[in-house]
Amino acid sequence: MACKNTTQESVLILGAGCFGLATAHQLANAGYTDITVLDKDDVVPSRFSAANDLNKVIRAEYPDLLYTDLSLKAIKKWQTDPLYTPHYHETGFLNVTSSAATQQTKNVVETYISSIQANPAFDGKVQRVSGEDQIHSLVPAFNGPIPGWSGYFNRLAGYAHSANALRDVYRDCVRLGVKFHLGPKDGEVKSLLFAAARGVNICVGAKSRGGTLYQAQKTIVALGGNVCNLIPSLGPQVTGRCWGVAHIQLSPEEAATLRGIPVTNVRDLAFFFEPDQATNKLKFCHMGGGFTNYAWSQDGLSVPYPTLSESKLLPAGDEMQIRKLLRDVFPQFANRPLIDCHLCWFADTADSDYIIDYVPNTDNSLVVLSGDSGHGFKMLPIFGDFVQTLLEIGRQAEPKWQWKGSKSKVGSAWRAGAGQELVAIVPAKL
Ligand SMILES: Cc1cc2nc3c(=O)[nH]c(=O)nc-3n(C[C@H](O)[C@H](O)[C@H](O)COP(=O)(O)OP(=O)(O)OC[C@H]3O[C@@H](n4cnc5c(N)ncnc54)[C@H](O)[C@@H]3O)c2cc1C
Ligand SMILES: *[C@@H]1O[C@H](CO)[C@@H](O)[C@H](O)[C@H]1NC(C)=O
Repeated sequence: MACKNTTQESVLILGAGCFGLATAHQLANAGYTDITVLDKDDVVPSRFSAANDLNKVIRAEYPDLLYTDLSLKAIKKWQTDPLYTPHYHETGFLNVTSSAATQQTKNVVETYISSIQANPAFDGKVQRVSGEDQIHSLVPAFNGPIPGWSGYFNRLAGYAHSANALRDVYRDCVRLGVKFHLGPKDGEVKSLLFAAARGVNICVGAKSRGGTLYQAQKTIVALGGNVCNLIPSLGPQVTGRCWGVAHIQLSPEEAATLRGIPVTNVRDLAFFFEPDQATNKLKFCHMGGGFTNYAWSQDGLSVPYPTLSESKLLPAGDEMQIRKLLRDVFPQFANRPLIDCHLCWFADTADSDYIIDYVPNTDNSLVVLSGDSGHGFKMLPIFGDFVQTLLEIGRQAEPKWQWKGSKSKVGSAWRAGAGQELVAIVPAKL
């Protein structure tokens, strides 16, 4: 539905993470000829990207049909597009609670399963699983007691090797003529450049930390959890939040025994994936309410730690949940050291809806791609379409993705547990 041919415009994309790369790739494929991408790291995938990871869940069950339909579209691409298929593993997604979960949580699960089962898209793909016996017969490799686990198994799901997928999209962008400037001097954005005209602030590009000026007709900000550093007016809508990620190292023989296990989310403990094919690492993430860092900003914003080394920690509470999970499911690895631990940062909104819109009062010169809320990676193959549509139509037609004004940000739409401020947590001794 092209409304306006905008392919001749120069486009500057700030951030070569999931949203930035997806956008550059789509626009280049659509015939845009002048695309420049900046990133603060000197490699892509950037070590600061939330998506630079061994794996991310790809699943389409949402309480919200908008995301269900889009995820199904994305999954089609993961299954069939030669750029994405090498990275996609359709192992299924097992989503359960353990016996430690409250009755209220269990009721939520029941309602949730019923709503998925009612959706024709998952016809025959989703089954209820309850109790140790059923789950053991589904996944014999779970040799621990898995006490009271129950929930559902969705076969139309799995995971993608997210770092490798980003790397291939990046290479394809280079092949298509997208220009990249990387690293702290030329790639790290320090500020946006504005020219005041007709009572609005027109964004005319950005300036790097080393002072390089980049001019463009459209500037697209895709800085993940860091977005508020550059656009503080997003503060009331977006919170930089992080979660702990940890791994254990398996031997090739141990990993072989776990090949093909589904992505498994034990909601009250942690989620994990089949061991990475190249490294045999098993990844865990306890997805509680997440952690904020308001302490480091003078502007009342929660923003990521600026360096990688500051983010190299795992909250002790996360270690506890991961150890409990290991005892329940893989007791043979219960005391294995946790390695490659770090905080993974993303841009969280109260309703978990993305923000894909023009920044107000910029005469459509400045676009923000944000609010991924921890479920953006799966859209990598189609996210660029959303941005192309915005550029061609000239406004965001999807109300959920509009700039949210000063709508208050309370709670989180779908995560368990309350958030905590990072300065208040005790790091695990690893
Ligand atoms: C623990 C965890 C688990 C997740 N699990 C899933 C999952 O299972 N499924 C799923 O779909 N999604 C998942 N996600 C979310 C997914 O990773 C994000 O939605 C996605 O990466 C968001 O893309 P982005 O481009 O907005 O941000 P990012 O991918 O984080 O990219 C931001 C980029 O901006 C760059 N940058 C930052 N500051 C500057 C600057 N000043 N100048 C230049 N460049 C800069 C960074 O280097 C980075 O490359 C998870 C995230 C986390 C943290
Ligand atoms: C897992 O199931 C719960 C309901 O128990 C649901 O709220 C949650 O969104 C599901 N998780 C995922 C990632 O689909």
